[in-house]
Amino acid sequence: MGMPTAIFFSLLICLTLIETSAYHLPSFSSSLRLPSDRHRRPRPTSITWAVLVAGSSGFGNYRHQADVCHAYQILRSGGVKEENIIVFMYDDIATNPLNPRPGTLINHPDGGDVYAGVPKDYTGESANVWNLYNVLLGNATGTSGGSGKVVDSKPNDRIFLFYSDHGGPGVLGMPAGPFLYAGDFVSVLRTKHQMGTYSEMLIYLEACESGSIFEGMIGKEEEEELEIYVTTASNAIYIVKIVAWMEDSESNDLKSETVREQYHQVKDRTSNYNTFAVGSHVMQYGTRKIKSDTLSVFHGFNPRNANVTSRTDRNRVIRDTGENQRDAEVLFLWRRYERMDERSPEREEVMREITDKMAERVHVDRSVRSIGRFLLELTNRDFNAEHIRPVGEAVVDDWGCLKKMVGVFENYCGLLGQYGMRHMRVFANICNHGLNVATVEEACHRSCVHDGEWRRWFSL
Ligand SMILES: *[C@@H]1O[C@H](CO)[C@@H](O)[C@H](O)[C@H]1NC(C)=O
Ligand SMILES: *[C@@H]1O[C@H](CO)[C@@H](O)[C@H](O)[C@H]1NC(C)=O
Repeated sequence: MGMPTAIFFSLLICLTLIETSAYHLPSFSSSLRLPSDRHRRPRPTSITWAVLVAGSSGFGNYRHQADVCHAYQILRSGGVKEENIIVFMYDDIATNPLNPRPGTLINHPDGGDVYAGVPKDYTGESANVWNLYNVLLGNATGTSGGSGKVVDSKPNDRIFLFYSDHGGPGVLGMPAGPFLYAGDFVSVLRTKHQMGTYSEMLIYLEACESGSIFEGMIGKEEEEELEIYVTTASNAIYIVKIVAWMEDSESNDLKSETVREQYHQVKDRTSNYNTFAVGSHVMQYGTRKIKSDTLSVFHGFNPRNANVTSRTDRNRVIRDTGENQRDAEVLFLWRRYERMDERSPEREEVMREITDKMAERVHVDRSVRSIGRFLLELTNRDFNAEHIRPVGEAVVDDWGCLKKMVGVFENYCGLLGQYGMRHMRVFANICNHGLNVATVEEACHRSCVHDGEWRRWFSL
């Protein structure tokens, strides 16, 4: 085994997946009509809005953008209007030189193109968290660089939010700019609720540790008030593939299937033969009321599926490939390298790319470990990521502190990045123990500047 191979495998540590047809017929209550009320008063209609977010970029992360495009096609064929669907994706896949089918994206080996027609609302650098918040809040003037399309919803409307990407404890990645922090995200949802501009919201989060976004964030009473129901691909730690929802929505009569049925359907099919081994924890948060809704109110209704009684093969379990989501990018490069002609000059380039990526990872892991050691020395306390709070408690109490500590780290040690999200719990533990910035700065300084570790890595 060559040196790069050895490095590569030794580092592959397990990081571990409508316009709704609810238009009510015009109706009125004759007993309440005034004599002057000549014409029928239609009840307010309910529009379905959708926000679809692919949180990554790069060809190695192909799946996330393909998921989002696929979701878009399902909603469109369900009758949700394009003007009510807002898409966030980096949009670097279809035209990527590595794309074997230029100009298209597929989401299933036997599936067709899902890219055609997908609106480019927030692509490239505009696919960032500030735009996402403004889009959810319906604040068009607050967005920049994108289409300016926002969720301009009314009190009766329903909102469906789908997110596919990498996550870490308390955070989700975005293709551009900083992470999405659970504290900010939940505040935005609360604000949206206070604005009174939706009746119900359904959120599907497909990311590592996405359960940690809602764990302990919303109190029991508030849960009912907010009218938000969430399904995540993982509890606070493990991930499975809830994208199974798409296959399910595509092939069933959504006028009869409920949110609850889809939850169980997806949960069963992703449970690794019902063993619920690592990687098999579909979770739910928020109000359970929404679970009795038929899916058509969120995903639209495709007339083709009328009268269908469950066409999804419930026995076809979606198994974990055992491949870690966070390693997808490097694994992709590795496979490419292995397939290339040994004499091809490009092969060397790919190896350089792999080595750079691995060096970055090693640097982040080492820095965080070293900071932990210094802090142990300074405070006699262990902040290791293995210290996980009990179920029902949020990753951190002070989200402002978490952001600040990540900022301190990045100042001295370089960007944490998508890979570094896995260390978020260390910073959360630092905050939960009430450490001050000066102490953390000292540890970061000693780990990353004094020892010069990262300078050495990046000045090579
Ligand atoms: C919209 O966003 C802008 C920029 O962030 C902000 O100044 C403004 O107050 C926001 N408007 C509303 C209604 O929230
Ligand atoms: C569904 O059933 C109804 C009533 O039997 C029928 O009129 C309709 O054509 C059927 N739709 C489809 C798509 O099969």
